[in-house]
Amino acid sequence: MDPLTVKTRPVKDYFMNWDELASRPYDKKRVDPYTKVRMILMNGTEFESTWFLHQFARHTDNMELKRMLAIVRSQEQQQQKRISSLKPLDENILETTISYEQLAIDLTAILARRETDENNIKALNFALLEDFDHLYRFANLLKTDYDIDADMLVGRFTEITPARPTIAEHRFAADNVKPAMNMRSASPFSTLVGAIITAAEQQTMNYYMNVGAFYPNEHGRRLYAEIAMVEEEHVTQYESLQDPTPTWLESWVLHEYAEAYLYYSVSRDEPDPYIRKIYEEHFEMEAAHLKVACDCMMKYENKAPEAVLKERDFPELLKFGSNKDFIRDVLERTVELTAEQDGYVDVKHLDEKSDFYKYQAVVNLKPDMVASHNVINRTIEKFGSDYRYEDSPNPVKALRPRSKDNTSLGRVN
Ligand SMILES: [Fe+2]
Ligand SMILES: [Fe+2]
Ligand SMILES: [Fe+2]
Ligand SMILES: [Fe+2]
Repeated sequence: MDPLTVKTRPVKDYFMNWDELASRPYDKKRVDPYTKVRMILMNGTEFESTWFLHQFARHTDNMELKRMLAIVRSQEQQQQKRISSLKPLDENILETTISYEQLAIDLTAILARRETDENNIKALNFALLEDFDHLYRFANLLKTDYDIDADMLVGRFTEITPARPTIAEHRFAADNVKPAMNMRSASPFSTLVGAIITAAEQQTMNYYMNVGAFYPNEHGRRLYAEIAMVEEEHVTQYESLQDPTPTWLESWVLHEYAEAYLYYSVSRDEPDPYIRKIYEEHFEMEAAHLKVACDCMMKYENKAPEAVLKERDFPELLKFGSNKDFIRDVLERTVELTAEQDGYVDVKHLDEKSDFYKYQAVVNLKPDMVASHNVINRTIEKFGSDYRYEDSPNPVKALRPRSKDNTSLGRVN
């Protein structure tokens, strides 16, 4: 599929009315877990596009271009409203959070499995284990505060068990910055991976930033604050992978192309006909946006689409599904890794004077002030053991005990 060959109307003909923006919410008891996950992904993609187009507008004095950016941006906003209204009223902040972490886990695993760039694979596998641990911590909060089992929310497609303990994920920020890929030599899929995963993690970061303080008790508020800091690390890592050299116009073309690729993918992956139709309509809009972006790039920089799109045809489409064995394998092999400068090292090999240990000593003064640890203790106090959903015991022996949370793995030399 080459999105530039899709028949479209002029961009100005795609505005929607208020009824169209107020979607019919899904039924939380019957919805496919990956339907929720796809929605969150597209919500995050629209946020990235909107925010990118605002930043672009703030960095150009070309009035004609600014007006075109305003038009396209208002459509990205309409698309975002239409998607976010699919969430039903009776799904609470924490239930939605479970789907955010399921997205982070399965999307990351799917991209890592298909990616060929070694630097990107390492980054994906590294953050994968952290979001996997977040799912476990939030699932325990859900069990303790609402007596809801998160395994039903994730459809048992994703296991819920500890990974690199969240307490060990707090790193000195500079260590999260990794070398960037070069778009000219990277595969088109790698370029898409950078764009997609950055937008998804950024959506999670924003969601926790905004909803954390609305959680009804102090334990939860602190857990959101703590995990939000890790999502900030993830965004730092992923945005650093992206090629920083494209011009604003080139980057606009790349954004519209990524949106088109994702809508085309999710429209083919989505079983709910009502939601699928929304995705199909948005795909056509994105094809129209892409043409406008390419026209502007030609007009103002005299560059053809090929300047940034090495191949116009979409690579293999994104398809959601379970990745349990893959995740177990990564967990078993790399649970004790931490980030250090350009790469990743086993904490056991870190110098005692490393920034990691210094930062850890500042933020985690003592484990009982760390919400991601306390959340497990609260579940153990209430139910006698933590909450998990495992097909078989955790592949890491140190993470198997159910009545004592491990606060030293990946953290203490
Ligand atoms: Fe969009
Ligand atoms: Fe996470
Ligand atoms: Fe994350
Ligand atoms: Fe767009």
